[in-house]
Amino acid sequence: MTNKRMVDIAWEPFSALPVDQKTPYLMQPDGTPYHTLFAQQFDYALLDRLTQLASEIRGVAKTRAGMCFLHELVCHKRAMLYFSQPSSRTFLSFLSACQILGVQTGEVRDTATSSEFKGESREDSVRTFSSYFDMIIMRTPEKGLAEHTAWMLSNSERPIPIINAGSGQDQHPTQALLDIYTLVRSFEHIGGLRDRTVVFVGDLARGRTVRSLSYLLTNYPNIRQVFIAPQPLQICDDVLANLRNKGVEHRCSDDFRASIPEADAIYMTRVQDEWDKEKGESSRIDTSRFHFGPEQLKLLQPHAILMHPLPRREEISTAVDRDPRAMYWRQMRNGMWIRTALIAMTFGCDKRIHEYYRQNL
Ligand code: NCD
Repeated sequence: MTNKRMVDIAWEPFSALPVDQKTPYLMQPDGTPYHTLFAQQFDYALLDRLTQLASEIRGVAKTRAGMCFLHELVCHKRAMLYFSQPSSRTFLSFLSACQILGVQTGEVRDTATSSEFKGESREDSVRTFSSYFDMIIMRTPEKGLAEHTAWMLSNSERPIPIINAGSGQDQHPTQALLDIYTLVRSFEHIGGLRDRTVVFVGDLARGRTVRSLSYLLTNYPNIRQVFIAPQPLQICDDVLANLRNKGVEHRCSDDFRASIPEADAIYMTRVQDEWDKEKGESSRIDTSRFHFGPEQLKLLQPHAILMHPLPRREEISTAVDRDPRAMYWRQMRNGMWIRTALIAMTFGCDKRIHEYYRQNL
């Protein structure tokens, strides 16, 4: 891939490009991401590199000496965590990832405590952060804000990388990375992430994690995607169009029970009612047939896994939490390692980690 420079393109033509044509503007010359905005930036080779790096970091972090090595790797950099939308796991795992690498952090979690409250624009706010920090990790309710920030800072005198930690209903690329890492690890001793069926369940229309993961899964050979939801919450056409273009086998249905025995992974999601256009809109949709409990567990294959980006509501019963196939707690920890790997790669210290791993483990 030939890299392109954001300084060579104005915002309007850049924003109008299809996502695959934006990718060359977002990557570094060695093929690693500079800005991480979309799941579509990651191909199989990069995902393989990233998941291996996460596992190496995990291994290195087991000893005090290894932790100390990691801790001085990026201690000369600072990251801003700008989360203007609620978050527990994504925020804490990014914070932990920064701590592992020695990256110092600042945070805004509530715009009522920043100058945005005084009427400052988002743009001016993030531009302010770029004066003090070397990376911005951002979660926002607006779809294109991370992308616009990336373009704007790349065209300023202080360009710094942006990591999208969730942009509206659109994308959550680092959640998809941790989901891929979980799938890769779960199947690594039983034939790998290939020839599998992944069943997505719940609010697929408004769930950004599902959208990003659907894109990433198309990098792996012969992964069937099944979308199970009540009609109003079914997956959007742009995701299906991508699957059709890539020749990926897929199906939409509202028969959850029938899909469980064929699943290698079930990806549950909660109703995203914060996006309701009118009050109580989602509560009128019957989602009770899309819950996973002990009855559904009986139908799940012995090697299959149950995933959830969390937070959950009633869609997974706590009665299944202790089953070894319940993967959502491990997913969270995987998130910390893959985000550590992504930050290390963005700051160009992946080779030093490989070296340390080769020499010491
Ligand atoms: C998800 C999100 O924010 O999109 N949570 C997360 O990042 N783990 C899913 C959700 O909120 O339902």
